[in-house]
Amino acid sequence: MHEGFLVYNGFRYLKVATFLCVVAIALYAWDVPPDEPNGGTWLGYGLGGIGAGLIVWLMWFGMRKRKYGTIGKLQGWLSAHVYLGASLIIIATLHTGFQFGWNLHTLAYGLMMVVIGSGFFGIYAYARYPQLMTQNRRDETADDIYNEIGELDRECRQVASDLPDEVVSLVLASCSETRIGGSVIRQLSGTDPNCATARAFDKVREMAASAAVEHGTNMRKLVTLLAMKATHLRTMRREVQLKALMEIWLYFHVPLSFALLAALVGHILSVFYYW
Ligand code: HEM
Ligand code: HEM
Repeated sequence: MHEGFLVYNGFRYLKVATFLCVVAIALYAWDVPPDEPNGGTWLGYGLGGIGAGLIVWLMWFGMRKRKYGTIGKLQGWLSAHVYLGASLIIIATLHTGFQFGWNLHTLAYGLMMVVIGSGFFGIYAYARYPQLMTQNRRDETADDIYNEIGELDRECRQVASDLPDEVVSLVLASCSETRIGGSVIRQLSGTDPNCATARAFDKVREMAASAAVEHGTNMRKLVTLLAMKATHLRTMRREVQLKALMEIWLYFHVPLSFALLAALVGHILSVFYYW
């Protein structure tokens, strides 16, 4: 996904959204309701209707997204989605007349704000993380790095073959227990506290530093190889972390938009019920 959608068509949807917000603010300032401003005045119903319409339309986005094949149309949709989605902050807030409480209405409002907030995070992630990922890999591809890890494993085994049994088993564990990613928490943390390579590196370095060590040259070579592998593992775990961050927000954005829709239906039904 390219950031082009933000500037799409000379900021067309930013202009549309700004226009909507300016009109809403002007009407809100101009309107003097009999009581205080709230969702039940003519302006309240108008803004609520526009807000609910926008929410349904924004949710339609997921389906349109899968239908459209071409990037151009998709960019237009996303541009409209982002700017009109953000305009809800103003439209829905003015609709409420700033009357919040511990009730279903405010739940709908809160869910909407979380969906919008996660959307902002998504935009940030799409704009920032691909570049961070390339920097993190120092312009190598993930495949290159995986291949280098495989090659280092092979060299480690070769160097370790003449070394004491304890070293051999540390190296074999490092080769067979290399884990990158795993559970969502593990992916997001970008680390592995149980990393067999880190363990092997610490132990072999300690042994290599002890004065009485035999096979000094091979031990030092092994320390260097394990350090290189540990660096590659750090890079790949960071890669997985950035990828997970690029997706995690959608696990809030989409399910919470369904929760929002349900709360909104409840809100509308309840206000008509008590009418
Ligand atoms: C067709 C759309 C909508 C209609 C007909 C509608 C109707 C109303 C009405 C009549 C009220 C006044 C209730 C009262 O004073 O007791 C109200 C208040 C409110 N509405 Fe809506 N609304 C709509 C859409 C929305 C949307 C999209 C949101 C935000 C997600 C929202 C959030 C609220 C909140 C937070 C209040 C203030 C509740 C309170 O007084 O505690 N409404 N709405
Ligand atoms: C209440 C307002 C919003 C609702 C109900 C909503 C709902 C949705 C839904 C249903 C999707 C489809 C996701 C999928 O199926 O893959 C989506 C995608 C998306 N939304 Fe929103 N959204 C809202 C506001 C926003 C805002 C304000 C932003 C940005 C600031 C935003 C950013 C995005 C992005 C970037 C995608 C595309 C994700 C992808 O293609 O990977 N949304 N939204």
